[in-house]
Amino acid sequence: MAAQTSIIPPTPSEEDYAATGERAPIPDMDDPIALFGDWLTAARESEHNDANAMSVATVDPAGMPDVRTVLLKDFGPDGFTFYTNLESAKAAQIAATGKAAILFHWKSMERQVRIRGPVSRTSDEAADAYFASRARISQIGAWASAQSHELVEREALKARVALFTDLFEEDDAIARPPYWGGYVLAPETIEFWQGQAYRLHDRLKYAFSGENAGWTRTRLNP
Ligand SMILES: Cc1cc2nc3c(=O)[nH]c(=O)nc-3n(C[C@H](O)[C@H](O)[C@H](O)COP(=O)(O)O)c2cc1C
Repeated sequence: MAAQTSIIPPTPSEEDYAATGERAPIPDMDDPIALFGDWLTAARESEHNDANAMSVATVDPAGMPDVRTVLLKDFGPDGFTFYTNLESAKAAQIAATGKAAILFHWKSMERQVRIRGPVSRTSDEAADAYFASRARISQIGAWASAQSHELVEREALKARVALFTDLFEEDDAIARPPYWGGYVLAPETIEFWQGQAYRLHDRLKYAFSGENAGWTRTRLNP
């Protein structure tokens, strides 16, 4: 297939930028977690769906980067939490390096947030509580799916869902599978990016300097 540049959206013209105007600059807040909360609140209003979707980047043992979307389920000064299968590719990569980066891109607001840091497991209590809040069929799905491992045919997955559906009594609560849980990324750096006209974007990067010093912030060139 030949290069398909005609399908690529056009680069904005001078007139396009003039019509959009200037966006509000990133506010100069001391606490990046509070700023993130403000942006996520605005994203919930503005985004069509999944404002809490984020890309999680990891590297495999050969140093090859990998990235996939997951849903943010909690955040605060201790970090950013998501839930997944503990025998998945991402889990193996996190186990090997103990590090990851996450990225939010809220297109409707022309905003991006990049966060990097060490990753650890959430408590079992937190994972149990979140698992209990999921729809029953999603809970069964977590039991049935060997995430990231080969599935010879889709019918086999449906058969496993049926098997686990029969196994759990209809009225009983479904326990969290031992191979399913949560990760929390403790932020070392958090960079906020606000798109601006003519690609003269606004960037503010926070770095954590320890409990006593707290967060320092630096504006970056676009
Ligand atoms: C919008 C969206 C949300 C997703 N949320 C999750 C999630 O919260 N947890 C999860 O394990 N996978 C989630 N996925 C699927 C992952 O992107 C990925 O396919 C899966 O986790 C396997 O990744 P891995 O093989 O790199 O471990 C989501 C995908 C999309 C598109």
